[in-house]
Amino acid sequence: MTTLLQINTSLFGENGNSSQLTRRFIDVWQAAHPEGRVVVRDLTRDPLPHLDAERIQALFSTPEDRTPQQQAIVDVSDALIAELKAADVVVIGLPLYNFGIPSTLKTYFDHIARAGVSFSYTAQGPQGLIGDRKVYVLAARGGFYQGTPADTQTPYVTHFLNLLGIEDIEFVYAEGLNVSSEAKARAMQNAGATVDRLAA
Ligand SMILES: Cc1cc2nc3c(=O)[nH]c(=O)nc-3n(C[C@H](O)[C@H](O)[C@H](O)COP(=O)(O)O)c2cc1C
Repeated sequence: MTTLLQINTSLFGENGNSSQLTRRFIDVWQAAHPEGRVVVRDLTRDPLPHLDAERIQALFSTPEDRTPQQQAIVDVSDALIAELKAADVVVIGLPLYNFGIPSTLKTYFDHIARAGVSFSYTAQGPQGLIGDRKVYVLAARGGFYQGTPADTQTPYVTHFLNLLGIEDIEFVYAEGLNVSSEAKARAMQNAGATVDRLAA
């Protein structure tokens, strides 16, 4: 059975522009894959705790030395990594907030970047352990950034996923959403048409 992992990060929940694009992707994908399974990770509804000294010590600890509290922290990270590994396709709704990715997504990344578990250090540099899979990133932005140095998101998200061994990444951009209602309608229509094509 094909599994799709949907990761939503908009502050505005279902009403977010990125969430509307992920919703549209899922609707089209489910019609094309009636047997497919969709797993939702909503980082706004269920945010993960920031890493702190206690959490990072737990994540760095060796299994035999862990306290039950540390094991509980590691279990959260292990479950997130297993969820990602089990997904054949991943769809990320990516709003632009203050020139960067949502802090909830950064925290999710902090929980799944684990040396020896999701990537390993080798003499040739880091080696991903998650395995490649298709990731669609549906980006919603108030202004225009695509292809400019101010687009911090595309290189960062690509670089991070590459660390895990994920190379097959495709971005869809809905930009200029805060410029005017006409610009927003046009951008959402264009991005939606691309989503329809990719999800089918
Ligand atoms: C807290 C906040 C910060 C934002 N920062 C930026 C920004 O730096 N650049 C930009 O072009 N748009 C910015 N916007 C506009 C969002 O990118 C735009 O509303 C987009 O639709 C967000 O995705 P969402 O609707 O899925 O949440 C910001 C919006 C919010 C709420």
